[in-house]
Amino acid sequence: MSQFDDHRTTAISPAGESTRFRRHRRLRRTGAIRQLVRETRLAAEDFILPLFVTHGVGVRREIGSMPGQFQLSVDRLPGEMDELAELGIGAVLLFGIPAEKDAFASGAYAPDGVVQEAVRAIKRHAPEMLVITDVCGCEYTDHGHCGILRGAEVDNDLTLDLLAQTAVSHAAAGADIVAPSDMMDGRVLTIRTALDAAGHDQVPIMAYAAKFASAFYGPFREAAASMPAFGDRGSHQMDPANGREALSEIATDLDEGADIVIVKPALAYLDVIRQARDRFDAPLIAYNVSGEYAMVKAAAQLGWIDERRVALETLTAIKRAGAGRIITYHAKDAARWLRGDATVSANRVPVGF
Ligand code: PBG
Repeated sequence: MSQFDDHRTTAISPAGESTRFRRHRRLRRTGAIRQLVRETRLAAEDFILPLFVTHGVGVRREIGSMPGQFQLSVDRLPGEMDELAELGIGAVLLFGIPAEKDAFASGAYAPDGVVQEAVRAIKRHAPEMLVITDVCGCEYTDHGHCGILRGAEVDNDLTLDLLAQTAVSHAAAGADIVAPSDMMDGRVLTIRTALDAAGHDQVPIMAYAAKFASAFYGPFREAAASMPAFGDRGSHQMDPANGREALSEIATDLDEGADIVIVKPALAYLDVIRQARDRFDAPLIAYNVSGEYAMVKAAAQLGWIDERRVALETLTAIKRAGAGRIITYHAKDAARWLRGDATVSANRVPVGF
């Protein structure tokens, strides 16, 4: 006997027999009822918007494979922050595109590097905006790999020092949270130790704990000019086939002192998000990556899908799977759509469903 038995109804089948079944459709009949029983709700404060910051003045360069996303120069950031605040988006994730790259990614930890300048500019203008910085070498190396090469391989331990210096320089510039995305072993512990030693023991680490070697990062590499000159990232990012290993990566990062963990990409990894949510209590964030965004944009431009409904359905599914917050390029559009939602009267179908 199920808990639903009380709700059962008796109906007469075409053959004239009495049968009993449950009327699920009762709770779907009107928009107001659907709204009453909806389990997952999106809000503008669920979103973290990635931003690509570049050198120069007055730059607002659209990224070809990511319509609606721009490389912005530092002087354009205050205006962007005003727009985000107005939309109710309270957090950004910064990526830097330096003027010059070298083999050692020295632009990543330069005190006057592009991300460091960006953090200062945002904090000056909008101190309440949560500024998260991506910590990785790939945008700053001339070979496009995530760290220091030894031969043709990214050397784990040589790279740890680069990451620690980068994280400390971001914190010194005023970053609220640092987010290492390199997938070197031991990086969370190394960064935590370095931050503490530099007096930044209050700066949390948001670790890209389960980051897969994904073809969905393609458009990002155009946006951040970080395509590897040779080879791929398979020696450090995870094999898309491995779910249990993802949980082990997350456990390791939490052990090493990660405060928040990220699963990335999101859509092809909803099972990992769900299992991570069930197994760990730490705040969990999903990264709805560039290729996921580009596919929606491209199909929408062709008139093949309804962009608004597909994007909101996607974001809802990521949250339903267990993500507390979502890093997404749809952030601004979604915030606008959701705001439109609020003006829809309660007995109509809300936007997106
Ligand atoms: C590495 C980094 C990447 C992304 C975020 N951080 C690219 C990579 O690992 O090659 C991808 C994000 C996206 O696709 O939206 N710094």
